[in-house]
Amino acid sequence: MRAMVFHGPGQKSWDEVPDPTIQEPTDAIVEVSSVTICGTDLHILKGDVPEFTPGRILGHEAVGHIVAVGSGVHTRRVGDRVLLSCISSCGTCRFCREGRYGQCLGGGGWALGHLIDGTQAELVRVPFVDTSTHLIPEHIPNDEMLMLADILPTSYEVGVLNGNVRPGDTVAIIGAGPIGLAAITTARLYSPARIIAVDLADSRLSAAHKLGADVIVNSGRDNALDIVRELTDGLGADVAIEAVGIPETFETAVESVRPGGHVANIGVHGKPATLHLENIWIRDLTITTGLVDTHSTPTLIKLIESHRFDPSAMITHHFTMDQFELAYDTFDRAEQTSALKVVVDKYY
Ligand SMILES: NC(=O)c1ccc[n+]([C@@H]2O[C@H](COP(=O)([O-])OP(=O)(O)OC[C@H]3O[C@@H](n4cnc5c(N)ncnc54)[C@H](O)[C@@H]3O)[C@@H](O)[C@H]2O)c1
Ligand SMILES: [Zn+2]
Ligand SMILES: [Zn+2]
Repeated sequence: MRAMVFHGPGQKSWDEVPDPTIQEPTDAIVEVSSVTICGTDLHILKGDVPEFTPGRILGHEAVGHIVAVGSGVHTRRVGDRVLLSCISSCGTCRFCREGRYGQCLGGGGWALGHLIDGTQAELVRVPFVDTSTHLIPEHIPNDEMLMLADILPTSYEVGVLNGNVRPGDTVAIIGAGPIGLAAITTARLYSPARIIAVDLADSRLSAAHKLGADVIVNSGRDNALDIVRELTDGLGADVAIEAVGIPETFETAVESVRPGGHVANIGVHGKPATLHLENIWIRDLTITTGLVDTHSTPTLIKLIESHRFDPSAMITHHFTMDQFELAYDTFDRAEQTSALKVVVDKYY
């Protein structure tokens, strides 16, 4: 088969590699139909994720069909169309029992395209297939479902639920990449009074506006904190969601909330950020962090089925697998290409 193989920082290629095989009775082999690229894959390619070693296959988001199952698989069959979640779950450890699958102690968590070979391939070995995949309702297309592999549950769980978004809230979302945009989409489920999206790129802000941000702020030109305060009688937002992953935007998120407000950090940070306790100890803030668990995926599937939102609005480009390198290039140059999510489909 062919797969997108990491060869060390800055190097990857669509290589011929051996087909994966069942290694544990709870494994399945899935033939990938559609797959996408995450900002985190770009972090890996920069060398920011040292446990991702050369020779490993990239990718943690896909939909496909099961083509083989191990002897210990009970609820999935050959032929099932499934969503491969970015998070796997052993189903039995202490954290899996409480729905905290991201922290799985039994070999799950963020495994695919991190600790084991990933989904940017024609075939992928999926561990714990019973507890780590979702059957796809017949009428939901692959590309819509693909948005549930990572970005929608991440933004919903780590941003909107951790941030405790309530009806009538003012929600400031710092960063309008796929994660920030998915936070806008899922925050709207709670009828906030106002969503303020902050980014440096006008193309991202225009996507934010289309997806339902009420106010867009280019923080390269305007002072985001001043605008948030002007709109909230000088108090600040009820909830700030950090969706970039750099010290500056974390500090902006903390400064932008009112006393008693919530700051939900989603960004993956590579550098220390300063927490100004000398200013905020008195302000009753709640600050949360998190890796996505994907416990909300069944809920999000129901919301897509009932047309409560349209995940395909975040897809800007389609490629076939033989164009994988072009897909990466388009995603990597998002400022020039206006790429949000790029979908790579199997060629038939
Ligand atoms: N916690 C989790 O489980 C989890 C899961 C997936 C992704 N993430 C992380 O979420 C973050 C966002 O992901 P993404 O795919 O949307 O990334 P992205 O790089 O596509 O988007 C980031 C956005 O931030 C904007 N930005 C950069 N600097 C800025 C600044 N100073 N002020 C305002 N905006 C700025 C960029 O223009 C871009 O639109 C990343 O750090 C990613 O690794 C976390
Ligand atoms: Zn991801
Ligand atoms: Zn577990």
